Amino acid sequence: MMVLPKSLGTIAIGLAALLSVLSFSAQAAERGEDLYKNYCWQCHGMNADGMGVNIPDMSVQPRDHTDTKKMKARTDEELYKAIKDGGQAIDKSILMPAWGEVLSEEDIQNLVRYLRELCRC
Ligand code: HEC
Repeated sequence: MMVLPKSLGTIAIGLAALLSVLSFSAQAAERGEDLYKNYCWQCHGMNADGMGVNIPDMSVQPRDHTDTKKMKARTDEELYKAIKDGGQAIDKSILMPAWGEVLSEEDIQNLVRYLRELCRC
């Protein structure tokens, strides 16, 4: 049997942990994408560019989630709050509904992760 120096073993364990965190976060974003395609696209658009089918009837236009600059200005906490408690929770329009009754905490977190992929920020 090959005996690994102790530090190498530690690095290997560290790498394994890192890989599992990375694949976990990819899964979370994937789940977020599913949720987005169920609950968000009507307003925010199939391409997440704010051009959903509902917009002709809306007085406030939904956020373009691919807008890196605008989305970068928001913290994860703010995005979470906007999804959970609605637009009003972050001083935005009530036309952005609250999802706290419909979606679990984990699902909202998955959505935040997916939004970060969409905006590349
Ligand atoms: C009924 C239409 C509608 C639906 C459905 C909807 N949104 Fe929105 N959303 C809006 C509107 C309108 C705004 C912009 C509010 C404003 O600018 O005052 C908004 C804004 C947001 C914001 C704030 C962005 C920012 O920085 O200003 C986030 C985050 C968001 N939506 C996420 C979601 C997610 C995630 C879903 C699906 C779970 C969703 N929205 C579903 C209409 C909608």
